[in-house]
Amino acid sequence: MIKINDRYLKLPLIQGGMGVGISLGNLAGNVMKHGAMGTISFAHPGYYRADFLKNSLQANLKAIADEVKKAREISDGNGLLAANIMVASKDYKEYVEAAVKAKVDAIISGAGLPLELPKYVKDEKILLAPIVSSGKACELLARKWDRNYQRIMDFVVIEGSMAGGHLGFKKTDVLEGKCEDLSKILKDVLAVLSPYEEKYQRKIPVFVAGGIFDGKDIAKYLKEQASGVQMGTRFIATYECDADQRFKDMIIDCQKEDIVIVNSPAGLPGRALKNYFILKADNGTKVCIANCFHCLKTCDPSATYYCISRALINAVKGNVSSGLIFVGENAYRVNKMTSVEALINELMEELEKEIGAN
Ligand SMILES: Cc1cc2nc3c(=O)[nH]c(=O)nc-3n(C[C@H](O)[C@H](O)[C@H](O)COP(=O)(O)O)c2cc1C
Repeated sequence: MIKINDRYLKLPLIQGGMGVGISLGNLAGNVMKHGAMGTISFAHPGYYRADFLKNSLQANLKAIADEVKKAREISDGNGLLAANIMVASKDYKEYVEAAVKAKVDAIISGAGLPLELPKYVKDEKILLAPIVSSGKACELLARKWDRNYQRIMDFVVIEGSMAGGHLGFKKTDVLEGKCEDLSKILKDVLAVLSPYEEKYQRKIPVFVAGGIFDGKDIAKYLKEQASGVQMGTRFIATYECDADQRFKDMIIDCQKEDIVIVNSPAGLPGRALKNYFILKADNGTKVCIANCFHCLKTCDPSATYYCISRALINAVKGNVSSGLIFVGENAYRVNKMTSVEALINELMEELEKEIGAN
């Protein structure tokens, strides 16, 4: 049992938010049902609605209410529910307010530094967590939140360079293997948080993410004083994941050499599967962007080579050759479909075995 401020999480496990549409109410609810933290991605969750192209923000806000309700019904009072909200989103404030209104248990925010997150969340019962990729980023956030809002993060997610989706590192550093090791970042973040734990008189649990594959990996980071892990890629190959089966099959069938680092219009590098879409985008073939969603602060529609929202929506719908398929570095090790229950049980059994052996 992990105490996070005044809430409890049964298992040391968070299912990471995966957009667009990969982790919605079904995946999050099933993860919660088995005692972990389930996360709904707030990146265009309304992509499947009929009114999405007409008014994407309204469609997304309606989908948020529906998906939160679905997750709560499936979880039957177990686990904790988080909203994953990207700082780079133009409608960041609206999404945070929607998360508060929907009464999620936690808000996890990355793809930029959520410096102003506490400003939009007055309810202290909602747990707030940034995603960071260095001790320095964590330091800056802790200092600003403490000074400007007299509030400290309730927990922290560290995303290392092996993660799927957007990465908080320079592309060249990722390609040349020069990124700081996850264990080193964990050590730095724990040191940064220590005086704040003293000041606020509570533990600030830290969860590590990126390439965590089995219970042995979880045990390694628990021994290094993490409170738990966040995992993304392994949850994609579950029956309950909200993506089209063709997206899941891409993960199951991929090889190590298919996994590449790409530039994203979000202004960050990302890890994805090499497919027809990536070959075209990498070639500098500019895709005409009609009906821009104006969804990212960091995207300039006149300069970008492709629309990341459309590419991610193609992917989740199963149009895999014309879509952007984000994956973690260990995706090639996933080779079969499973259920959320079987995956969580397997991870926890491996963890117990590993802890028992030491
Ligand atoms: C398909 C996919 C989409 C993702 N989308 C998001 C996202 O929208 N926001 C976010 O903060 N992280 C996103 N991530 C990162 C995950 O939440 C998670 O931290 C990461 O995948 C962990 O690494 P792993 O996949 O090796 O377990 C995404 C990852 C994947 C694989």
